[in-house]
Amino acid sequence: MTVPSSTSGFPSLRLRRLRSSPRLRDLVRETELNPRDFILPLFVRHGQNLRVPIKSMPGQDQMTVDHLPREIDEIASLGIPAVILFGIPEHKDAVGSEAYDPNGVIQQAVRAIKATRSDVLVMTDVCFCEFTDHGHCGIVNDKHGHTDVDNDATLDILVKEAVAQCQAGADLIAPSGMMDGMIAALRSGLDTAGFENIPIMSYAAKYASAFYGPFRDAAESAPQFGDRRTYQMDPANAAEALREVALDVAEGADILMVKPALSYLDVIRRVKQAHPEIPLAAYNVSGEYSMVKAAAANGWIDEQRIALEILTSIKRAGADMILTYFAKEAAKWLG
Ligand code: PBG
Repeated sequence: MTVPSSTSGFPSLRLRRLRSSPRLRDLVRETELNPRDFILPLFVRHGQNLRVPIKSMPGQDQMTVDHLPREIDEIASLGIPAVILFGIPEHKDAVGSEAYDPNGVIQQAVRAIKATRSDVLVMTDVCFCEFTDHGHCGIVNDKHGHTDVDNDATLDILVKEAVAQCQAGADLIAPSGMMDGMIAALRSGLDTAGFENIPIMSYAAKYASAFYGPFRDAAESAPQFGDRRTYQMDPANAAEALREVALDVAEGADILMVKPALSYLDVIRRVKQAHPEIPLAAYNVSGEYSMVKAAAANGWIDEQRIALEILTSIKRAGADMILTYFAKEAAKWLG
């Protein structure tokens, strides 16, 4: 029997058939970006009537609490369901006490947003690096001549911080400090305080990444000595991420997160495969954003297409939601 000839030799295998028109391409598209899956990070600073552009993150500003109502209206009108807050406090000290002060900058911000638009979800980052004078993510002490973040001492103040955020009205908390046992400690601390319905989104697999560089300028949170490699993960490890994630699942995390996103698409995929039943977030971090902005400003790339391609790739890898500084622009592009 002779097989009819074709360029490929396999007449039935013409994959281009399904690419021949925009309608067909729409019909067979596997991954759909939707503004409903975006979470926009906001930098809230102390003071009044200030909106300070962040040089290392073009298009992003630090803003004071009084600017939030207008900002949140715009975010809601674009169909973005959630924001995550980072604070630049007036006072930093060794234990980051403004993080759990009922009048700390984050607590003020949560109240202002909820008073404006109660339908926008407010997530709060639960960490100390923005609030400590040394810039580390918890209580630093000296044990046996070795200076490091004290895991268990930090758990106690993480609970205080999360409870203060929930009392202000936070809808969901997102611990990012990579302390062992933080999810169990926070779950029981929240439950005891009556916040058993507040979900925890765990920065479960968070890497010690150079991609956070622009954020540390934005949040004024760079460590004053050393680095974060004793608590954040080694970028070379992926199997270890599954252990981090399994622990957080066992401790009661409601949503998991992989961070950064773009250089860790394999980790996103493996986490989704290991826990398909748990919603997965990915954090498209500051460095990933600023690289695109810088190249676009030079005219080297098509910003819109690159940004949407990156966000699509993060979803395709397995993320259900994306924390991204592109949220507003992407919502407009998709609109
Ligand atoms: C705080 C925190 C960081 C980021 C989010 N939460 C910085 C860090 O760990 O140094 C980075 C986000 C970004 O780069 O966009 N622990």
